[in-house]
Amino acid sequence: MDLEPTAQNAFLQALDLCARKVLADEPALGINFPYVTSPSGAWKVLPASVSAGYSGANWSHGNWFCGFWVALLLVSYLRTGDRKYLDIATQRLLLVAPRAADGNTHDIGFIFYPSAVAAYHITGDSAHAEIAAKAADRLRRRLIMTPQGSYISAWGPLDDLRGRRSSAIDTMANLPLLYWAAQYRDDASFTLAAEAHALMTQKAFIRPDNSTYHAVEYDLATGSRDRGFTFQGYADESAWSRGQAWAIYGYVRTAEATGKRSYLDLAERLADYYVARTGPTLVPFWDFDDPSIPNAPLDTSTAAIVASALLDMGALHPDVQKGARWRQHALDILTELCKHHLATEDAHRGLLRHGCYSRPHDEGVDSAVMFGDFFFVEALCSAVLPGKLRAVPKVLVS
Ligand code: GLY
Repeated sequence: MDLEPTAQNAFLQALDLCARKVLADEPALGINFPYVTSPSGAWKVLPASVSAGYSGANWSHGNWFCGFWVALLLVSYLRTGDRKYLDIATQRLLLVAPRAADGNTHDIGFIFYPSAVAAYHITGDSAHAEIAAKAADRLRRRLIMTPQGSYISAWGPLDDLRGRRSSAIDTMANLPLLYWAAQYRDDASFTLAAEAHALMTQKAFIRPDNSTYHAVEYDLATGSRDRGFTFQGYADESAWSRGQAWAIYGYVRTAEATGKRSYLDLAERLADYYVARTGPTLVPFWDFDDPSIPNAPLDTSTAAIVASALLDMGALHPDVQKGARWRQHALDILTELCKHHLATEDAHRGLLRHGCYSRPHDEGVDSAVMFGDFFFVEALCSAVLPGKLRAVPKVLVS
């Protein structure tokens, strides 16, 4: 289409690299799933069964990455047409499926949308859809009612006050599972739950300058924000770049699912903030307010999430020129990632270098991170295999 041959080749080669690496890594993984690379370039791994939870006062996210690995296998199948990728992905889904009953975390959207929903989209096999629908039901049950609206609690069992009050910007990118389930089950309550969360997040998380809080604790009696804080960012009042990406991504998908222009407008304001603070290198620092910038770590995963969101924004936008500008910005980000951040050598097992999982926890800093690799290939698919991994968004009626 509008894709220059050089960009198209670079994107297809990146997908080829993905297919080569996942196939080479599979035999050694056993029941484990990769999440971040260590300094040697080898994947660190965890079984899919590791759930989230509190250990004393500390929250641990558990394995919320396992579905992304399934997605890399599915994308490799789409790119190569080689059935063995699909067979491995199907086997891997069996290891992931028990997490559909995990009522402890919002992250089951991240686990099941890229894996089971994509597998259903590709194969039409309703067994995959049923797993995803079970997970969506769990996610919907995390909806907490307050006098000012409802939100999906992020972390922990709902009978634990810490979990019940908590909400995270990341949840916005878990909503596609609910939007999908509404269609699959013909049950609007999934969309109503997701949209309620999006509205509450709009009120409580977005600062006047269009940056976002990473996390919020609500006063359950009033529904007001008690405090905005961070878990993975530099400081409670700083702008954690990946949080901004989750917000952009989630509001674009909310605009797509509801057909409402107001969410697209909001996503554009969030994206304007992101673009202005990222600057011409197109890959942001892990937190826009880290005082050690320009010597702070980058986060390529953020750039990948934003690229995927902006391709959808471009497809949805009723103003053709604005849509084309967002699309071009996304393609520029992907070109930059392919040119300067792709791990082409064998020793480094991920796809994108310079991701940052959590600087405060010193975990996966300057590494490949599994979610970065997923959103990168999701965006590449939108660019060169449109409609294959998921449907192309329809233009909004303005
Ligand atoms: N929990 C999602 C993230 O690390 O961004």
